[in-house]
Amino acid sequence: MNQAKHIAIIMDGNGRWAEMKGKKRVKGHEAGSEVVREITEFCAAHNDIERLTLYAFSTENWKRPRLEVEYLMKLLEKYLKNELETYIKNNIRFEPIGDLRAFSKSLQKTINEVQQKTAHCDGLVQSLALNYGAKDELLRAINNIKCSENDITEEMLLNALDCSHDVDLLIRTGGDHRISNFLLWQLAYAELFFCDTLWPDFSSKELEKIIKEFKKIERRFGGLK
Ligand code: FPP
Repeated sequence: MNQAKHIAIIMDGNGRWAEMKGKKRVKGHEAGSEVVREITEFCAAHNDIERLTLYAFSTENWKRPRLEVEYLMKLLEKYLKNELETYIKNNIRFEPIGDLRAFSKSLQKTINEVQQKTAHCDGLVQSLALNYGAKDELLRAINNIKCSENDITEEMLLNALDCSHDVDLLIRTGGDHRISNFLLWQLAYAELFFCDTLWPDFSSKELEKIIKEFKKIERRFGGLK
């Protein structure tokens, strides 16, 4: 049976969730961060799951209103500081992906600290995609490969990418059926699940159901049964 070793999630619908409740959009992000915690702990306790990659801030999200961006930055910093203990308690290694150079020195310091202090953990790897865009990741990887004469091999590219692990299961909440510049290389043979639930209403129960469906799929990777 299939194992969902690497789950990636596009956490969409925070803003709509808040607006539907007559709240400011940022309140949806706050509620969304609680779900990040729940889903991470669920995955850490699940035998099959080795890696959870969450799209927290894209290279395109800078286009949002300044106040929303600032709120998201503060929320991220608060989340990482608060979660350090939980990461260690649950043996979770934190590995950010994306171009972190765009963030404030303070946020970069917090990200580095959490990464260093959880480097010894050998349970679930939780990757937050931060200032991440798949096109940007591929361009940075290609530009970093010092290769003047030989062709670039798949192995060289994999080593240069932020994330060198294929995704087994991609979930997008919030009702849209888009990839939104997320993990384009790593999703090559992922199974895609789209659900209408807005991210703050997503739960480990719903994730469990999706994993059950995923296990039934016959994955052929371009071959025959
Ligand atoms: C998309 O919802 C969500 C984001 C752009 C950010 C994701 C952030 C979180 C889940 C919370 C913070 C994360 C951490 C790790 C602390 P949207 O605002 O596009 O929703 P909409 O489609 O309803 O407008």
